[in-house]
Amino acid sequence: MVLYPMHFRYPKKLIVIAFAVLMLAACGGHKENTPLYIHAGFEIGTAVGAKEFATDSLFRAILVREFNSITAENIMKMAHLQPVEGVFQWAKADSLAAFCARYNKRLHGHALNWYLSTPAWAKAYAGDSAALENILKNHITRVVEQFKGKAASWDVVNEAILDSTGAYRKSIWYNTLGPEYIARAFTYARAADPDALLFYNDYSLTSDTVKRAAVLALIAELKANNVPIDGIGLQEHIYMDSPSIDEIRKALKEFVATGLLIHISELDISFNHFEKPPVYLSFTDSMAQWQRERYRQVVAAYTELVPDSQKYGITMWGFADKYTWVCSYFDQPDWPCLYDTTLSAKPAYQGFVEGLKVR
Ligand code: XIL
Repeated sequence: MVLYPMHFRYPKKLIVIAFAVLMLAACGGHKENTPLYIHAGFEIGTAVGAKEFATDSLFRAILVREFNSITAENIMKMAHLQPVEGVFQWAKADSLAAFCARYNKRLHGHALNWYLSTPAWAKAYAGDSAALENILKNHITRVVEQFKGKAASWDVVNEAILDSTGAYRKSIWYNTLGPEYIARAFTYARAADPDALLFYNDYSLTSDTVKRAAVLALIAELKANNVPIDGIGLQEHIYMDSPSIDEIRKALKEFVATGLLIHISELDISFNHFEKPPVYLSFTDSMAQWQRERYRQVVAAYTELVPDSQKYGITMWGFADKYTWVCSYFDQPDWPCLYDTTLSAKPAYQGFVEGLKVR
């Protein structure tokens, strides 16, 4: 045995690090080694906020590692792309599209027509059907052409049906152009890029049965009229306690029966329901485990019930609690995502992976 003098000994710190590396290598199944989209075998996406995309390198590293589909959280909406009539602002969306091309991520365009992102200048034409039709056609054509060959798909019309009643939302588009604006939006998008897949996107489709029936009727009508619709986006901004998993499974089956592609397009699972004061004020271990199980069930329902040929994927509306829209938009504390406020994977992440394993 060779005895090394003291100063040849490896520093203790180094030995500890080497041991940790060996341990990690030994358990090959370490939860973050296999990215979500590899587990899935279908697209796993996330919405991306422009600010964190530009400033947070850890955020970008997780984005690149775990997801293979990207939706712009805001910068491809009308108010952002055409803030002034006829003036298009492409820079941020172009750079997101370039990022997608560089890292081989699918870009899902969101959204060509959304009442909440109608710029003030367009609203000024309310009631003028010739002008508004022109604006609809021109906006859709210019935007879809800009991302032709870059965006694989589009949410063409977003949130056109009202909650509870299932009536058409009385947006300026509906009020001025009538319900046919929906069909025409799809036709304009198809003409601008025949290869892009076109979606109708809406929320509460697994919880609100009247709204769901209305959207199913709308889809049936669009299909009967040969309107070019390829898929349905179920946003799924849902809660821990509603809708029930049975209701979600029932709704998924009804949408599968349309034969369209099914995209869970904006998934997040919140605890609070806008109560003042909020019921949940901090995120405990038992809440984390509850959320893990909820994610498992929702992801398992999609994995199991949607035939592979109709799976367009599951997209998170942001993957980290650090940047979730829920807290600021609804002015409440919440923890709806897979990663926490330090960008560490939560038990919810593990639940998501478990849900993918039912195949
Ligand atoms: C939200 C964004 O997350 C917020 O940053 C923005 O302030 C408002 O819009 N349904 C949709 C998304 O289709 O576009 C919305 O995104 C969330 C609800």
